[in-house]
Amino acid sequence: MTLPPGFLWGTATSSHQVEGHTDNDWTDWESQPGRIHDGTRSGAAAGWWAGQAEEDLARAAALGHNAHRMSLEWSRLEPAPGRYDDAAFDRYGAILSAARRLGLRVMVTLNHFTLPRWASRGGAWLDPQLPERFAALAARAGDALEGQVGLWATLNAPAVLATMGYMRTSWPPGLGDPIAGFRALAAQLEAHALAYAQLKRVQDAPVGLALSVPLFEYARRDSGDVAAARAQDWAFNGAKFRAIQTGWLLPPLGRPRRVPGLRGSFDFIGLNYYGRFAVRFDAAAPKQLFGRHVQRPTVATEHNDWGQICPRGLTEQLLRLGRLGAPLYVTENGLYDPSDEARPDFLVRHVAAVEDAVRKGADVRGYFVWSLVDNFEWAEGWAAPFGLLALDRATGERRARGSAEAYAAIIRAGGVGSPPTVPTPN
Ligand code: BGC
Repeated sequence: MTLPPGFLWGTATSSHQVEGHTDNDWTDWESQPGRIHDGTRSGAAAGWWAGQAEEDLARAAALGHNAHRMSLEWSRLEPAPGRYDDAAFDRYGAILSAARRLGLRVMVTLNHFTLPRWASRGGAWLDPQLPERFAALAARAGDALEGQVGLWATLNAPAVLATMGYMRTSWPPGLGDPIAGFRALAAQLEAHALAYAQLKRVQDAPVGLALSVPLFEYARRDSGDVAAARAQDWAFNGAKFRAIQTGWLLPPLGRPRRVPGLRGSFDFIGLNYYGRFAVRFDAAAPKQLFGRHVQRPTVATEHNDWGQICPRGLTEQLLRLGRLGAPLYVTENGLYDPSDEARPDFLVRHVAAVEDAVRKGADVRGYFVWSLVDNFEWAEGWAAPFGLLALDRATGERRARGSAEAYAAIIRAGGVGSPPTVPTPN
């Protein structure tokens, strides 16, 4: 087979999305009318905090998974600045022990978007103190969970958070200010560098981060479209890749400056990949760097767009990030597909894209589907199910979708094995 021995097959979840609310920035956000488009709240979400985590992980193991990616909820671990909650660390310890007993290697993301209320009230990622506070959390979590974590990711998709919460008003803190967005991205990269150093100091597992890596391509071979696509790719992808490679933050992430500890601050890189955006020049869209997204068909709701399905883009981004010289994991790949009609084929084609990248030299070590079970999809609420397991929120019952079995079959076969012809969308 194409994929290396020991390849990790799993799914990804994040604390707030499956555990439900706690004292974090989303608790406040969800209580404001109109913020969650379907009017729902996270509530107890998929019940993970109360005990469903172990049961869902058992379902994953029964489907043949050998890994899982989950995150820790900062607001539970540090409910007030500098005050840590041992019981919350113990609860995560129990989930990690259960995962180990089930034969699942766990990638733990230290922070997946949500901030404790105290941190959001202090200015969120625009608070110059927050990177240090995050590093302190990293040290504490690294110590408390030493030996129980297979891989650590410091942060999840910092550019997504910067876009949705700072450049736009879709997520907290809802600033709608592009400059604030780039500052928030820069601050998260600084926080990553500090947390990386702390985790390396206190424990032995590999440490990396998960980056969202959409493909941006020009819609027409026209200088305006080409320039807008390049600008969006640089702002969202290129600048952060360059930052972790060289340690330099370059415009638009502020004035050029070197961040101590950032250069090479990864033992692996995680890629979250959903799709491709076709960029068309639009003089009226300065906040989008003069590019409008015109890909068709596209996977979208009224408010959010994950782009056009394009497995080739995953191969390309794996090869691109592979040049940084570290092992790679696909830390998220999945589809909003309530009917589950398209998801099985989506999974086959994206695993084929991973195999294609491996054949071309990329060192890919694992693949995590977003997501194991339907969960709280941020501003979409409960209206955008991504789970291999469908969740009946009224009863808490899970039902395996067809894609759960399709993924299990891929895992049993050790991959999809044959290079499919991946048509290039236009
Ligand atoms: C995020 C997840 C989210 C998924 C689907 C990713 O970028 O990390 O939290 O649920 O996209 O929108």
